[in-house]
Amino acid sequence: MDRLTAERRIAELREQIEYHNRLYYVEDRPEITDQEYDQLMRELQDLEDLYPDLITPDSPTQRVGGEPLPYFTKVEHKVPMLSLGNAFTEQDVRDFDRRVRQGVGGQPVRYVCELKIDGLAISLRYENGLFVQGATRGDGTTGEDITQNLKTIRSIPLRLRKPLTIEVRGEAFMPKQAFEKLNQERAAKGEPLFANPRNSAAGSLRQLDPKIAASRSLDTFIYGIGELEGETVSSHSEGLALLEQLGFKVNPERRVFDDIEELIRFIDSWAQKRPTLPYEIDGMVIKVDSYAQQQELGFTAKSPRWAVAYKFPAEEAITILEGIEVSVGRTGAVTPTALLKPVSLAGTTVKRASLHNEEIIREKGLLLGDHVVVKKAGDIIPEIVAVLPERRTGAERPFHMPTHCPECGSKLIRFEEEVALRCINPDCPALIREGIIHFVSRPAMNIEGLGEKVVAQLYEQGLIASVADLYYLHQRRDELLNLERMGEKSVDNLLQAIEASKQNSLERLIFGLGIRLVGAKAARVLAEEFGHLDALREATREQLMAIDEIGPKMADSILAYFALPQVAELIERLRAAGVNFSYKGVRVEAGDHLPLAGKTVVLTGTLSTMTRQEAEQKIAQLGGKTTGSVSKKTDLLIAGEKAGSKLEKAEKLGIEVIDEAAFLRLLGQ
Ligand code: IVH
Repeated sequence: MDRLTAERRIAELREQIEYHNRLYYVEDRPEITDQEYDQLMRELQDLEDLYPDLITPDSPTQRVGGEPLPYFTKVEHKVPMLSLGNAFTEQDVRDFDRRVRQGVGGQPVRYVCELKIDGLAISLRYENGLFVQGATRGDGTTGEDITQNLKTIRSIPLRLRKPLTIEVRGEAFMPKQAFEKLNQERAAKGEPLFANPRNSAAGSLRQLDPKIAASRSLDTFIYGIGELEGETVSSHSEGLALLEQLGFKVNPERRVFDDIEELIRFIDSWAQKRPTLPYEIDGMVIKVDSYAQQQELGFTAKSPRWAVAYKFPAEEAITILEGIEVSVGRTGAVTPTALLKPVSLAGTTVKRASLHNEEIIREKGLLLGDHVVVKKAGDIIPEIVAVLPERRTGAERPFHMPTHCPECGSKLIRFEEEVALRCINPDCPALIREGIIHFVSRPAMNIEGLGEKVVAQLYEQGLIASVADLYYLHQRRDELLNLERMGEKSVDNLLQAIEASKQNSLERLIFGLGIRLVGAKAARVLAEEFGHLDALREATREQLMAIDEIGPKMADSILAYFALPQVAELIERLRAAGVNFSYKGVRVEAGDHLPLAGKTVVLTGTLSTMTRQEAEQKIAQLGGKTTGSVSKKTDLLIAGEKAGSKLEKAEKLGIEVIDEAAFLRLLGQ
């Protein structure tokens, strides 16, 4: 094909693909099959391969193309991205209405009521109709440039249907189904699970490699305009109509109201229908429609006076307690888990609930076969909040905790002052297996590719009997290859990850050993203080107790651990394998120049880019110390999403508060 014909055909194909893309991803009414669509894409790709100089950034082939970024660059929001004030009750909504009517001097007010999508706020910038930049909200003034990742989302048009210069705002989210599938895949690979669709959307868009975002089935709803050139719009509802015309996906479940009581009934109906939606919402947003009235009402320091977010109460569901499973953890503690009739709750199918210990079963009066109310509190594993005795049929049976370990059969013991039953057999397979799982886990030695299932398999096949055996697995490559689902590649990756973990800094090793009462934080303090595992082994009770964070119980536990002959043997085998025993982090004493040197920091809410443990580690690297509660001694509060009472208290005490974006800046990320 000659160049001119190719150029024409490329233009034609792009237009067709854009059209079908919009029908499929935005309007949800495709006209052609996936195969036909793929065929068009392939033809375009072939022509672009032939004439690479004809590739433009808005070509549908350019959605995933970019290389991983070294870091995200900052984006200043010309119009700040504010957040909304909250309403939790119908009365709060009526109060909002009263304030609005007062604010506009008693004129009639029309509202738009929309779903509050539970995702991540985004801003999209178009110049002359071309998508040029996408950003996160950040602290509202400065966000991060995530253009590459946003381009991979098919409902975001790369070119608008009019050549406008416009900046729009909306929510990126992960549909419930995609979320469940992603977590299933992660569980199979032994990777940590996302707690909810919102975290998984945020986590996907905060990846430097756009291929990851591309693999994550993200979607968008656009709900507002930031800046607009060359077009005038006089109300929010007109703005939404314009956004739709331009090719954006706008949520269809919006309505206009002149009467607040009717609007409240609409909110109520969505509180009921919420579980039927294929994506998560956490409330409803009420906005004054007229832009003139919005302007008259203006803003408070943080949010507009013309809008409010009504938050739904945490979602609950009723289901049946079908059984109780008893498992033994690494410390020997025996914990019961409720096995539930699968029920859909807050975006996921719930099959299990944690029961913590036997006491809770007794307190709640749970019987097998009972109807129970389950509630999710931001975690993956939900909780049973109530039993419904009025629904009993008489067929329910009481549950008895076993008297003997379900794994090794030895008699279970209850220590004084403890509720949990424990297996104290050091050779119990459950203790050994769970101890290895803990050792390889992310906050400990962080050996990728070694999920619970793989560890269980290695243990059952006799390839590992202790954590030291991991470092001798390379001598048994053939046996590894014989295992289920273990090809050359996965064996190589696994051995490589194990090899790499030898270089970990000491705190990971100390935490990984699983010494009773020594958590990740204590492990870090010990590593910092002693610098080498041998120094810690030789530490006296006095030396240990001299450390602020180490109490008498932990000191005794550490001494008892290192006195065990099998521990001495384990350590020698780790040493012989070349595992690093030294602390490699930053010593706090030497870190007066560090940004958080000597500061006491509290974390609250959820961070989207790291776990709490990782955040604590980073705070320590900056010289700071993390504590659990806000007091006069607190120097700084880092507030993630959904920060609650700690944030309030910090504000009351006048303590400095920063959000996640500011924290990342502090980290130089
Ligand atoms: S309007 C100035 N509309 O909820 C107000 N926000 O604090 C701009 N959200 O993080 C927000 N759905 O990303 C608006 N239909 C909707 C929304 C919505 C979800 C998010 C938004 C922000 C938070 C509000």
